[in-house]
Amino acid sequence: MNTLLQDAQLVLDAQKAAAHVGLQSDTIIVNGGRPLRGRIDVRGAKNLVTKAMVASLLGDTKSVLRDVPDISDVHVVSRLLEIHGVEISGSPESGTLVLDPANVAIAQSAEIDALSGSSRIPILFCGPLLHRLGHAFIPDLGGCRIGDRPIDFHLDALRSFGAVVEKLPSGINITAPNGLKGANIELPYPSVGATEQVLLTGVRAEGTTELKNAAIEPEIMDLIAVLQKMGAIISIEPNRVILIEGVEKLKGYDHRALFDRNEAASWASAALATKGDIFCVGAKQQEMMTFLNVFRKIGGDFDVEEDGIRFYHPGGDLKPVVIETDVHPGFMTDWQQPLIVALTQAIGTSTVHETVYENRFGFTDALVEMGADIQVHKNGLEGGNRRVPRRALEQAAVITGPTKLHGADIEVPDLRGGFSHLIAALTAQGTSRVSNVGLISRGYGDFTGKLKKLGADFSFEA
Ligand code: EPZ
Repeated sequence: MNTLLQDAQLVLDAQKAAAHVGLQSDTIIVNGGRPLRGRIDVRGAKNLVTKAMVASLLGDTKSVLRDVPDISDVHVVSRLLEIHGVEISGSPESGTLVLDPANVAIAQSAEIDALSGSSRIPILFCGPLLHRLGHAFIPDLGGCRIGDRPIDFHLDALRSFGAVVEKLPSGINITAPNGLKGANIELPYPSVGATEQVLLTGVRAEGTTELKNAAIEPEIMDLIAVLQKMGAIISIEPNRVILIEGVEKLKGYDHRALFDRNEAASWASAALATKGDIFCVGAKQQEMMTFLNVFRKIGGDFDVEEDGIRFYHPGGDLKPVVIETDVHPGFMTDWQQPLIVALTQAIGTSTVHETVYENRFGFTDALVEMGADIQVHKNGLEGGNRRVPRRALEQAAVITGPTKLHGADIEVPDLRGGFSHLIAALTAQGTSRVSNVGLISRGYGDFTGKLKKLGADFSFEA
């Protein structure tokens, strides 16, 4: 897709996302320079909730999912499930969804296409639909601004289970003429999505599946908990090995989703950048330990309490850090964008090595426009003792601070980059116009309501 088409698609995606959650406008005007202070709720993790919703397809009975966030991605997955015959009651607004898979059916590809945008979720429908209907069709998922995001690991895994994958100009047609059989699969990289693909397919395949080099993110563990409630037999072995003993039938589940650690880390970064103090109700320590270490090294402080975590700027100077993004238990790629805004306020030079995606620093252009000193090295930086072995797609950002940020007219490029822009606008002196904010509602429930609670000065553009 050329850049103009991509820009038009982005605006369209942002408008759709804004409409899903009833956002008043896709552009907000922010008067920055005030600390964010207050208490906000963090609901279930986007990256678990959307997968648990797909898992409901595998059951014979209704599933109940609690602590669902009111985000646009949940609305999209709800519609995707509905066009596949799943009846859904409850609502993301109320936080509870009841999913009834009694009448699962094949959907029209045009309907799937119209809904999915740049979402990766349709690919995870493959295993459950093959088990239920013997057939799945996945429209061309395209790339997105943070990298190509290929699906080769997913397709290779499906083939290992015995699926026949046929690539058509309009998408991918997948069948299982001889059923799905347990397989030995080793992922080239511990991909979150491909691990979920193997879990959602292996649980009802005939025989045992051994998955090597699996992702072990907390959201994956919570998905395994969901599947176990449904009747699956899955064990976690040392060294990233997961064993799945296929079963013939699964039932529905009743599950309270794991909290969204990406959302909590984002608000924590906002507290640090704006010299504020934010209590995230529902945040837990264990899943955030790596983030908390970095937060403390920079000079932020936190109190872990029974009902959540308080993140605050304790006064004094912020210090620079060197971070490498990594798979769990490393520093998540989704945490670097909001934290980089706080690093523009640290005294000295920080380096962030991005090792998960090949193009995840595009959002820094807007920060530079606002006065930040950030240099992006598209081919990464050599040297130094590195925790993560160098990957071909690595890049690095070098942030020198402290810099005064000033207001600007900025356009949100993607979900996490967008939240980072929002924090930059809240940190900056003066007024910023932030457009495409609908994209932020893909993953941050009621973010404008939360901003109000935290005392942010902003208004929707008419
Ligand atoms: C999930 O994406 C999350 N999305 C991402 O969050 C998150 O950044 C990522 O995991 C890493 O934690 C959802 O859960 C919906 P991967 P996923 O497969 O599953 C390469 C957000 O902002 N790869 O672990 O798509 C891939 O290109 C989003 O909330 C292949 O090469 O991530 C990437 O470099 C963004 N072939 C790396 O693996 C494949 O078939 C990791 O991707 C699959 C992946």
